Amino acid sequence: MTSATTDPRDTTAPVCYPPGEDFAATANADAGLYELAAADRLEFWAEQARRLYWEQPWSQVLDWSAAPVARWFVGGTLNVAYNCVDRHVLDGHGDQIAIHWEGEPGDSRDITYSELRDEVSRAANYLTELGLRAGDRVAIYLPMVPEAIVSMLACARLGLTHSVVFAGFSPTALRQRVDDAGARLVITTDGQWRRGAAAPLKAAVDEALGAAHSTVEHVLVVRRTGIEVPWTEGRDLWWHDTVTDASPEHEAQAFDAEHPLFILYTSGTTGKPKGILHTSGGYLTQAAYTHHNVFDHQAGQDVYWCTADIGWVTGHSYIVYGPLANRATQVVYEGTPNSPDEHRHFRIIEKYGVSIYYTAPTLVRTFMKWGREIPDAHDLSSLRLLGSVGEPINPEAWRWYREVIGGNRTPIVDTWWQTETGAIMISPLPGVTATKPGAAMAPLPGISAKVVDDDGTELDRGSAGLLVLDQPWPSMLRGIWGDPQRFRETYWDRFASAGWYFAGDGAKLDDDGDLWVLGRVDDVMNVSGHRISTAEVESALVGHAAVAEAAVVGASDATTGQAIVAFVILTAGAATTGDPLVAELKSAVSQEISPIARPREIHLVPELPKTRSGKIMRRLLRDVAEGRELGDTSTLVDPKVFEAIARG
Ligand code: WT7
Repeated sequence: MTSATTDPRDTTAPVCYPPGEDFAATANADAGLYELAAADRLEFWAEQARRLYWEQPWSQVLDWSAAPVARWFVGGTLNVAYNCVDRHVLDGHGDQIAIHWEGEPGDSRDITYSELRDEVSRAANYLTELGLRAGDRVAIYLPMVPEAIVSMLACARLGLTHSVVFAGFSPTALRQRVDDAGARLVITTDGQWRRGAAAPLKAAVDEALGAAHSTVEHVLVVRRTGIEVPWTEGRDLWWHDTVTDASPEHEAQAFDAEHPLFILYTSGTTGKPKGILHTSGGYLTQAAYTHHNVFDHQAGQDVYWCTADIGWVTGHSYIVYGPLANRATQVVYEGTPNSPDEHRHFRIIEKYGVSIYYTAPTLVRTFMKWGREIPDAHDLSSLRLLGSVGEPINPEAWRWYREVIGGNRTPIVDTWWQTETGAIMISPLPGVTATKPGAAMAPLPGISAKVVDDDGTELDRGSAGLLVLDQPWPSMLRGIWGDPQRFRETYWDRFASAGWYFAGDGAKLDDDGDLWVLGRVDDVMNVSGHRISTAEVESALVGHAAVAEAAVVGASDATTGQAIVAFVILTAGAATTGDPLVAELKSAVSQEISPIARPREIHLVPELPKTRSGKIMRRLLRDVAEGRELGDTSTLVDPKVFEAIARG
C-alpha cells in the first residue's frame, strides 16, 4: 500500500480494492447492468420502475418536451406509502421488523411492517379528519422519533406534500419554510433528547408562528420528553389524544406519478433557501433502485442503518423511501454518536447485527479522533458493506473506515448525489467496481455525467472541471417551489444550449477514467456534510447591531471537512467588542440559523478585500483563513487591506 494522504484532491493514490469473490457471487448488481442501461436507457428505467406496484401503468417512460421540467412514467399512478408499507404486509411480511428504533436515553421499540401500516393508516385518517386534502402542504419539525417516519408516510399516503424541517433549525428558519410552502399543519414534539437533556421544540414552533399571522391552522404534538409546553387551545393537538385513537383501517388512493411528494429546503448561493420539489413515481423508482444495488440490500436478511437525520435528503431517500420500498429492516437512532459515550454507534451495530452502515465522512474522521480502541472493543463482524455520503471522503479516512470499522473486508461505496438529484447518481457498485479510496468512481447504470470546462467542452482525463448531468434522471428535482425562474437560473442556464444540469461541484476523471468529486465551486460551504451558504451566515451576522459588514468563507477543517470562518467589520458605536462580542456573534448565528451554522472563527477586521467593482474576494479570505500565502491580489482596490486584517 502506498502512504496515506489526507488531501481529498490528491487523485494519484493508486491503491485499488477489487470486489471480494464471495461478495460478487451473491451481489444484487452485476456488470450487465451497465450494458442494459447503455443499450436502452429508458427501457432500463422502465424495468427499474417495475419493482414498484403501479395502480395504472404508464404510457410513456419520459416526457422531456417541457425541459428542464421532466415527467417520468407519464400516465402511471401509484401510492408511495402503499409501496413502502402495505404491499409488504399483503405479501406475507407483516411480522418482519421494519424499524428497530433506539431512543437516545436507552429506550427502544421494534416496529413491524403491520404495525407501521396501522400507525400510518391512523395518522392518515386523522389528517383527513383535520380537513387536509391532496396537494396541501404539511411541515414536519420532528426529531428522529418513529412518528417522524409515520408522518411522512401518512402525508405520502394522502397525497399531502411534506416539508421536513430539521429539528435543529431555529424558529426563524422554520417560519421561513412554513411561509414559503404555505403549510396548513406543523407536526412537532414537546421536546427532543440531546446528550441526556430535553431541549424544547414545541416552544420553538410557538415562537415561529407567533411572529405574525401564518397559514398554519393546527400544530400536532408528539409527546417525547414530557417537558411542559406552551399551548394554544383550538390550534394545538396532542398526537396521543387524536392519531392514537383513529382507525387503523385506511384505503390508499393512487396518485399520478408526477404528484408532488415533498419539498425539502436547501441552501443556495443567496440567503434564501430553495424549496426543492420532488414527485412520486420517478423519485421512488430511483430511491429503490439505488438502495437495492448500491447497498446490495437483501430483504429479510440485512439489517441496514443510515445514520442521517430525516431533516436531510439522505434521511428521505435512504431511511424512509428507498429502504421501506425494498422491505428493509433498519435501525433508526434518535441521538448523537457520543451519548452516553463514544461507544454508542458500535454498541448499536452489535446489538442489532447491523450489516449495512451508511454515514458521512465527518463522523468517520470523528471516530478516528476518538481512537480505534473504541470500535475495537466491539464485535462488528456483522458489517458487510459501508457507505459514505455528504462530502468528498479523504483517502486516509476511507482506508481507516474499511480497515477499522469494516475489518478489512467490507466494500465501501462513496455515493455522490444532492438534495436536487433525489437519489444516488455516482457511486461504485459493490461486487462489481474495483474501488479507489476517495473516488466516487462512475455514474450508476442509467445515469450520465460529464466533466467539462467553463465552455462546456469535455475535459481530458487528469484535468479538473465542472460536473454536469447531461441526461434527465427519474428522481431529478421538478423545480424550486414557487420559483421557476430561479430553478432555471441555478441549474440550467449555465449550459443552456446543451441542456445540461449544472451540479455546482468540481470534478475530475483520473488517468483510468474514474471520477473524483472535488467539492463545491460556488459560495456554498459543506460543514460536516451540511450545505450552508456563505450569504445566509453573512446575513445572520449583519442582522446583529454591532456588525456593519461581514464576509464568510469555508476553510478546510480536519474533522468537519470545511469550517465557517467569518470576517466582520463593526459599526462605529458597537457596545461590546473583542472576545465577548465574538462569542455573542457566534451564538447569534446559531440561534438565527442553527448550531451547524455556528462559525468556528470570527475575525474582527477594519476592512475587507474588495475588487474595483466592490465584490468581496473570498478566494483571498480563504487563503487567510487557511493560513496560506496570499494568491493574486492585483485586482484589489487596496492590497494593504491584508496588513490591516492581520492586525485586526
Ligand atoms: C452536496 C450536496 C446527498 C446527500 C447529502 C448532501 C456534496 C455529497 C458527496 C460525495 C463528494 C459530495 C456535494 C454536493 N457531496 N456527496 N460522495 N463526494 N461530495 O446533500 O445537502 O444536497 O449537498 O454535497 O458538494 O453538491 P446536499
